[in-house]
Amino acid sequence: MVPKLNAMVFDAYGTLYDVHSVIAQCNAVWTERGQAVSQLWRAKQLEWTWQRSLMGRYVDFRELTLAALRYTTEALKLPCSDDTALRLLKAYEHLEPFPEARDALEALRPVTMAILSNGSPNLLEPLVTNSGLDRWITDVISVDALRVYKPTPRVYQLAVDRLELPPEEIGFVSSNCWDACGAKAFGFHVFWINRTGAPVDALGAPPDHIMHSLAELPRLISR
Ligand code: LAC
Repeated sequence: MVPKLNAMVFDAYGTLYDVHSVIAQCNAVWTERGQAVSQLWRAKQLEWTWQRSLMGRYVDFRELTLAALRYTTEALKLPCSDDTALRLLKAYEHLEPFPEARDALEALRPVTMAILSNGSPNLLEPLVTNSGLDRWITDVISVDALRVYKPTPRVYQLAVDRLELPPEEIGFVSSNCWDACGAKAFGFHVFWINRTGAPVDALGAPPDHIMHSLAELPRLISR
């Protein structure tokens, strides 16, 4: 059963936007290594958000993402000039939405829709505009205001404060299971988009719903 939800809040990277859409640009630089680059780049990026939050050593997501790319090319022994690194970072402003994203958002109308992301405003805002998802997403909320990353409960509170709704009236959607669990622990009604058929992370707060893609969302939401 899905309660009446007065807003839907989406994670950005991996949920609305395919971070691995950078593979094509990476392949153009390092033939056939694009997938390996993208996988390690994303893994290090996430790992460092958690580690830096625990250490109290925040840097914004743009800086962290650039550093993760530098680490990746060094680890994989691939040459990478400053220009190349900055060009690939720029690809984060032009990530592809998942194929079903636009139709799903359109079908969810007229519920209020927001993004709550680790992304810094200087990465998120161009991305939402470039992709045209600003047609549906009215609020782009970044953890940067708090200088700490998901999944601390303080970050999820940002959405409550911005939308002026209690947590139980907010639906939270993420394909990152640890983010879905963090949002559930905070008190949102949570939808995990399990794109890879992975088991649920044992973090003590399983998501309310598990689905394969955003396309399944509209029929679950009561309006
Ligand atoms: C985000 C990461 C977790 O958008 O994907 O916040």
